[in-house]
Amino acid sequence: MATHSANLSERFQQAWGSQPRLFQAPGRVNLIGEHTDYNDGFVLPAAIQLQTRIAAGPAPGRQLFVKSATYPDDAVFDLDDTNPLPRKHWSDYVRGVALFLEREGLTLKGARLLIESDIPPGAGLSSSAALEVATAWALLSDSGLHMELSKIAQVCHRAENEFVGVRSGIMDQFASCYGRRDHALLLDCRSLEMRYVPVPHNAAMMVCNTMVRHELGSSEYNSRRRQCEQGMAVLSRFLPDIRALRDVSAAQLARFSAELDPLIHRRCRHVIEENRRVLTGAQALEHCDLVSFGALMMESHQSLRLDYEVSSPELDLMCELALGVEGVYGARMVGGGFGGCALALADQSAIETFVPTVMEEYRRRTGIACEIYQCSAADGAGPIGG
Ligand code: GLA
Repeated sequence: MATHSANLSERFQQAWGSQPRLFQAPGRVNLIGEHTDYNDGFVLPAAIQLQTRIAAGPAPGRQLFVKSATYPDDAVFDLDDTNPLPRKHWSDYVRGVALFLEREGLTLKGARLLIESDIPPGAGLSSSAALEVATAWALLSDSGLHMELSKIAQVCHRAENEFVGVRSGIMDQFASCYGRRDHALLLDCRSLEMRYVPVPHNAAMMVCNTMVRHELGSSEYNSRRRQCEQGMAVLSRFLPDIRALRDVSAAQLARFSAELDPLIHRRCRHVIEENRRVLTGAQALEHCDLVSFGALMMESHQSLRLDYEVSSPELDLMCELALGVEGVYGARMVGGGFGGCALALADQSAIETFVPTVMEEYRRRTGIACEIYQCSAADGAGPIGG
C-alpha cells in the first residue's frame, strides 16, 4: 500500500503542483447476512485490504475538481449549485456525498481529488461505498471539519440512495467506516449497534470473482426490496406490532404462510432465516467453530439461490468448486447477487491448493479466467500515514 500511496501522491503533484493529503476507505466482504440490511436485520461483514484511495488538496472558491486514475473522465462541480442532477457517471458518488454533507448543515471548501481504487467494480465488494466513504473523509478533512463515523456512514448511504438512485442498505458504508483488522462486524441495521467478532486466525477468506455480472442486477435488487415490502403489508395485517421482516419469527411466518403468495413467502423466509443464521454464525465464530460457521454459509447460499433467487450459474459453480477443495469450511455468494464474487472460508492449510484448483476448474467449466483475492479483515477508512 505504501508504494500505491507514494505514486498517487506523485501523480497529484504532477497534475496540480501541490502536496496532497491521503485517505483510504476499504471494500468489504460479507461473511453472512445477505439482503437483511434493508429489512432492519443483522449482517456480519468485514472490511478487506482492497481499498479506494484519494489524494486531496484545497482548491480556490467552492469548486470540486475530481480526477481518477482508475475510472475514465474528469469532473468539475460547483458546490454552490445546491440542486445538482446526477450525470450517470462514477463522479455522481463524489457529488452526492458533497451534497449530503452540506445538507447536514456543513459548509465545504473547494477541493481537488485524485482517486484510485483496487476494488473491482461490480464484483459485490462495495467499490461504491468505498468511494463514498473515502470522499467524505477527504472533503471533511480538506474543510477542517469533523463528523462522527456513524454519521459519515449514514450520509454516504443517503448519497447513494437519494442522489445516485441505488436503493441499497446501510451495510456497506458501515463496514467501510468501522472495519477492524482481524475482525468482522456484527451490525444491527435497525439500531446501528454493533459488536466486533474476531475472525479466527486459521480461517482464510478467499474471495472468488466469477468475472460475470448479469445486467438485471439492480432492477432485481429493487424488486426484491418491493417483494419484502409486499410481505410486510400482508403480515402486518395479522401482526400489527411488526415494523420490518426483522420482527417476524419463523413460527409466525409459518402460521400465516397461507396468506402470502408463494413467491413472497419464499422471499420472507430467506430474510427471516438469514437473520437467525447471522446471530448463530457470529456466536460460532466467537467460539472458533468454523465447521458450524461453514455449514451456515452453505445454508445461506442455498437460501439465496432457491428462496431469494439472486444467485447465478457462475456463483453456484464457484461455490461448488470451492467446497470441493479439502479444508474449505463453507462458501456462499456475497453482495446483492446476479454475479460478482463468492466467498470461501478455508483453513490456512488449504490455500495453496485452493487457488490453482478453483481457477483451473472454473476455466475448464466456463472458459473464463476468474480472479481470487485472499483477503484478511482490515481496518476501516481514515487518513493514510496519520
Ligand atoms: C448490496 C447492497 C447492500 C446489501 C447487499 C445484499 O451489496 O449494497 O446494502 O443489501 O446488496 O446483502
